[in-house]
Amino acid sequence: MQKKVYIESYGCQMNVSDSEVVASILAKDGYTAVKSAEEADLVLLNTCSIREKAEYTVMQRINEMNSLKARNKGLKVGVLGCMAERMREDLLEKKKVVDLVVGPDAYRTLPDLLEKVGTGQKAVNVLLSREETYGEIVPVRLDTNGVTAFVTIMRGCDNMCAFCVVPFTRGRERSRDPQSIVDECRDLVAKGYKEVTLLGQNVDSYKWRPTPSASDAGADSTRSVDPSGRPANDTTGATDFADLLELVALACPTLRIRYSTSHPKDMTDKVLVVMAKYANICKYIHLPVQSGSSAVLKRMNRGYDRAWYLDRMASIRRHMPDCSISTDIIAGFCGETEEEHQETLSLMNEVGYDMAFMFKYSERPKTLAARKYPDDVPEEVKGRRLAEIIEAQKLSSAKRMASYVGQDHEVLIEGVSKRSAENMFGRNSQNSIVIVARDLGGLELRPGMFVHARITSSTAGSLQGEVTGIVDEAFASA
Ligand code: 5AD
Ligand code: SF4
Repeated sequence: MQKKVYIESYGCQMNVSDSEVVASILAKDGYTAVKSAEEADLVLLNTCSIREKAEYTVMQRINEMNSLKARNKGLKVGVLGCMAERMREDLLEKKKVVDLVVGPDAYRTLPDLLEKVGTGQKAVNVLLSREETYGEIVPVRLDTNGVTAFVTIMRGCDNMCAFCVVPFTRGRERSRDPQSIVDECRDLVAKGYKEVTLLGQNVDSYKWRPTPSASDAGADSTRSVDPSGRPANDTTGATDFADLLELVALACPTLRIRYSTSHPKDMTDKVLVVMAKYANICKYIHLPVQSGSSAVLKRMNRGYDRAWYLDRMASIRRHMPDCSISTDIIAGFCGETEEEHQETLSLMNEVGYDMAFMFKYSERPKTLAARKYPDDVPEEVKGRRLAEIIEAQKLSSAKRMASYVGQDHEVLIEGVSKRSAENMFGRNSQNSIVIVARDLGGLELRPGMFVHARITSSTAGSLQGEVTGIVDEAFASA
């Protein structure tokens, strides 16, 4: 009998991508993925620890599993991801409803762990690995629109930002074999996907060094790039992120390529040159600044200061005047003064972000900040500062979006607009949402189509456009 698994993802895109790897591992073990917890024999919650609130949300959801289990006696419940790693056996002890706890590097052991769970025991594996990249596993796409997909290129993080729990939950940084990345992208193209987002905690430190056995493998005619994944002109033997971007752009010329996340201290001009060179690489960079104050950045252990960040901005604009930029900002980090907060507002004003993710600082156990600095900005001050940051971003977004009005943009249609079935939504290269009419003089727009759209109006969150034509050959101008 087919077993049914329901996987629910919380937190970042990396978790969404990991859930697809988990679905693939479980498919080999006889599970099909279903769309609701009610119809499943196994519910897996792929969890996030980035802020306390994220963990609280998951804890509530775990509690809800009690009533599901009461209705479905055979149901098993597992916790995956960052909370599994951070809380380990604690979760099994404190939440009786949980049968299974598996950390981000242990998903290959799921079939064995489930066998144990099947005999009525609890199972846990939270071992972190220095090597695991799930490189050769072909993910099973969950909740897919059939148009856009994520491809993980590296795992873990070595940066040790003072506020961040990720190095503790996801372990050391390691990069995936470029050949397997290119193969996965090619496979997506063959399946009709039109856009891919290459994912990593810090893509700029992507580095693949061929092992002796890999480069000794010799000529293999089934491989489309050098077996090591190395571009012909590379003499160091390593593939860096710029090389990888170029490999994917060349191997999949009709595929739109995005990536996330960059780190200001590591973002090189070499990456910007590659981005500018290929029309199929989107002109959009997510470059988390966290704070506009050099003193706060130092306490955060970010490895750059305000001047360095602004220099990176200037370089982006030099290489790609049409590039959009988004960021992450934390309000009320340890010891943040009013002046330091004002510096964040002034930096936002100077950069003019298209979009931002904005958070109140939330202390995380074990992190450098938790050990070294008191969480001393009062809650109401954090709240007020965050509100000011959000307000500043609203103005900035509205201004940036208004600047697109009158321009022609290439838009990839992703689906039917949530507001009205008469409209479709898609994204331009800059990653802004563009709403267009579904009916194009008798022709109905479908997800996956590339269209030319003239931008007619804007809000802070989206653009309205008029389709002026269908793109026959995507990125032909490259
Ligand atoms: N508190 C608040 N925000 C955080 N982030 C990471 N850790 C914390 C924390 N402890 C934010 C950062 C990061 C984004 C993914 O989440 O801005 O870039
Ligand atoms: Fe956290 Fe810094 Fe790693 Fe991003 S780069 S995940 S902020 S430690």
